Amino acid sequence: MTQSMTDELKLAHDEADALIAAATSVDALRQAESRLLGKQGTLGKLLASIGQLPKEQRGPAGKEINLAKQAITERFAAARAKLEHAGDQQAVAGAQAYDPTLPGPVVPRGSVHPVTAVQWEIEDILARLGFVVVSGPEMETDYYNFEALNIPAMHPARDMQDTFWLTNGWLLRTHTSPCQVRAMERLGPPLRVIAPGRVFRYETEDASHAHTFHQLEGLMIDRGISIANLIAVMKLILSEVFRREVKIRLRPGFFPFVEPGFELDMSCEICGGTGCPTCKRSGWVEILPCGMVHPNVLRAGGIDPHAYTGFAFGLGLTRLAMMKYGVQDIRGLNSGDLRAIIRPEQRHGPAIIEKN
Ligand code: PHE
Repeated sequence: MTQSMTDELKLAHDEADALIAAATSVDALRQAESRLLGKQGTLGKLLASIGQLPKEQRGPAGKEINLAKQAITERFAAARAKLEHAGDQQAVAGAQAYDPTLPGPVVPRGSVHPVTAVQWEIEDILARLGFVVVSGPEMETDYYNFEALNIPAMHPARDMQDTFWLTNGWLLRTHTSPCQVRAMERLGPPLRVIAPGRVFRYETEDASHAHTFHQLEGLMIDRGISIANLIAVMKLILSEVFRREVKIRLRPGFFPFVEPGFELDMSCEICGGTGCPTCKRSGWVEILPCGMVHPNVLRAGGIDPHAYTGFAFGLGLTRLAMMKYGVQDIRGLNSGDLRAIIRPEQRHGPAIIEKN
């Protein structure tokens, strides 16, 4: 064992001290250890240099170095155990800091579709007037969709609504009006019902036409119901939905199942009545076709037209949602692109209306 070797060994011990003090993790410690004890490390080089010593010195020197190596290994192991213990302590402390009563991460709930929002709103408005919600099938018979509504097979009014016919002779309902006779049959007079739902037309799509859209049928039958009742209810719906008086106009409209029949238009909310693609540049939007229930329809529903009268309307829910939420293109309502739905500056009410 030469003096320089003894010095080197001392150096290796000092190095171990420094490395152990500097290591903050078990991994770092492991790396430092293998560097120090490895072939290229201080001790490794020392061991390798033994071969250059005179024969008789090799044994004692090797022993000395190996002892040092063993001591250093033990010190690293001790340091590692200490770090691991500290890590465990920390994990335990972390577990104690975990409070299971804290609220979990907030997951956005999404909101209802604009059409659903107006539908619920109108259901609530009309519930206050005693209307109940009914529904009918989307796959309808010729009888309820046309025949019972005073539209016989060869009637030209069938051309008003291009129909998706099914191979079994049934059809996809072209309006919610089939619910009228169904409700009369089921409930009898007097009657206040609304029937919201999806309807289908064989249409070419554009900004204001879709092959699938939503209507909300309304029907009120009682003794002495008149056009005054009809107009009062229509006005109530619109002023409640838009939270203010809405400019409307009433003009004659032809529907075989009402007499007289009307088209109730509202001033276009998208352009403010100046004309845009959504209102076909007229400034008006057909939103509420309506009229007094035709005696033939009452009869089809088993109601005596001499005893009872009534009104019906077929609110365009999809169009109403477009007006209320400023949706310029009907196709936006059926797309997943939320930017198409709400134009904030056009919004009158909250975008999210939740039914409680
Ligand atoms: N069902 C008619 C349509 O879809 C609308 C309507 C309903 C008209 C009720 C008058 C009365 O075109």
